[in-house]
Amino acid sequence: MPNLLAQNIKKGLCKPQKMIPSSSFYDDIGSALFNQITTLPEYYLTACEMEILESHAQDISRQMGEAPIQLVELGPGDGSKGNILISQLLKDRKKVTYIPIDISEASLLSTAENLRSCFSDLMIQPIHADYINGLNQVKEGGGGRTVVLFLGSSIGNFSAEDGRHFLSELRSRLKPNAFLLCGFDLKKDKEILMNAYSDKAGLTRDFNMNLLTRINRELGGTFYHEKFNHVAVYNETQNQMESYLECTEDHHVDIAALDHVVSFKKGELIFTERSRKYSLSDIETLSIETGFHIQENYSDKKGYFVDSLFVNQE
Ligand code: AVJ
Repeated sequence: MPNLLAQNIKKGLCKPQKMIPSSSFYDDIGSALFNQITTLPEYYLTACEMEILESHAQDISRQMGEAPIQLVELGPGDGSKGNILISQLLKDRKKVTYIPIDISEASLLSTAENLRSCFSDLMIQPIHADYINGLNQVKEGGGGRTVVLFLGSSIGNFSAEDGRHFLSELRSRLKPNAFLLCGFDLKKDKEILMNAYSDKAGLTRDFNMNLLTRINRELGGTFYHEKFNHVAVYNETQNQMESYLECTEDHHVDIAALDHVVSFKKGELIFTERSRKYSLSDIETLSIETGFHIQENYSDKKGYFVDSLFVNQE
């Protein structure tokens, strides 16, 4: 999808507040870096959500009912979360088709391969696409129930408005009574959030900087890593972590494929990611606004994270 990347980058770097859309993180290298981030002690989100899935898999499986299940996962990562649910569903003797959707083909195929070797009874239909195009390719199974997994608090990367729009679009593609299990990172102490997005080992920095490497490789860019810093800040008004690349000296960057030269000022910021943090009432409001009903909220012991089971009302 090089054209889409080119369009996104050109549009984003021409704005007065320069930005790079966070979907650009997930080339094969970025996806591998993110998988490493999930193992960092500071990045509590994954451990909390794994705990939630492990302790509530039985109840989640019970809620899904007895019909065959079409388990669609948006951005499955290394598949370890899907693995927990699949394992429970199969234990409960349900027929499951697993449909992971991801924009990194390498990550998608290795995850599918992994799960195939874990579960011989599992049907797997990987789809290499972005979320919406992937969802458009999912055929509603005859009589089966669709369960969409959108875990990890990836919803938090959208602005409030785009998040509502995305969930509404998702819901409009689902049959009545289909489920969405959606992960939300909860509001918490600022220190904990800051550490999660500026880890000591520097993996989050590498993840952010990989955007520049990717633009250099795929679009013929001339970015130097030495001229940028990784910056993470908590925006208290918006309740979101924000990541930026901060320019350390005045300079120009030529991007061949865009036929464009971008000028940077010392101290200028490129906005690369927001990760919104939610309260239970934010989640409830979002569900109502997008036509879902909350069946159940599952949380970890520390109360850091929630997997909310949404059901399609219409
Ligand atoms: C994969 C979008 C959930 O926002 O926490 C991790 C990505 N960015 N560290 C997040 C991310 C920096 C992550 N999501």
